[in-house]
Amino acid sequence: MRGRFGMGGSIAHPDPAAALAAFLVALDAALDRAAAPAADAGAAATLRELATLVRSLKANAPPRETPPRLPVCRYWNAALESAGDPLAGALDALAPWLSWTQNPNYRRRPPDAAFLDNYGYAVIAGPADGPPALATDPRLALGALLLGPGRHYPLHAHPAVEVYYTLTPGEWWRDDGPWRLEPPGTAIHHPPDVRHATRAGAVPLLALYLWRGDLATHASLTPAAP
Ligand SMILES: [Fe+2]
Repeated sequence: MRGRFGMGGSIAHPDPAAALAAFLVALDAALDRAAAPAADAGAAATLRELATLVRSLKANAPPRETPPRLPVCRYWNAALESAGDPLAGALDALAPWLSWTQNPNYRRRPPDAAFLDNYGYAVIAGPADGPPALATDPRLALGALLLGPGRHYPLHAHPAVEVYYTLTPGEWWRDDGPWRLEPPGTAIHHPPDVRHATRAGAVPLLALYLWRGDLATHASLTPAAP
């Protein structure tokens, strides 16, 4: 049903600004839904703050050239087929304009030999000095993380506060663990500097990330297991 990368690069939506606006409306609603049942008051406050920022984003002019892709993008279609959240369709409509990148810390020293072929993220919104974004904003980083099947993104940490919103099932670790299997449509809150990890199962893992706070400091791997 989905997978714009499999359509020979055809432009699926004539207007990237309209596609972004539709995606942001869907994301705003998803964050509000996720905030309501959040047991953790801090997590709920972060979700609401992020939703407010999402509502304020404005689209840039569309890129003139085809944005870069990464080897992990071969899993885009499979991830979308596995997605159990309506946001996935709105994200797929952005696919022709998504710019893919990788954390420079991992490019310099990958966690394992195959990691860089199975990991990447697409930037949707972020500061002007970051990777090309569909909306420039100094207060928020927003994008999509994609991991290949069975891939383990080991423990790491960063000073920004983070929320992941899952589009596919996957396993998540925070602080002292344990691993938790989370279904699509789950909001996962990582306070600043808390260590966390992610593991894809039989299907690729696709999740939206939102950062607030220190957007300039990339995540770094932390030495302890898992
Ligand atoms: Fe993170």
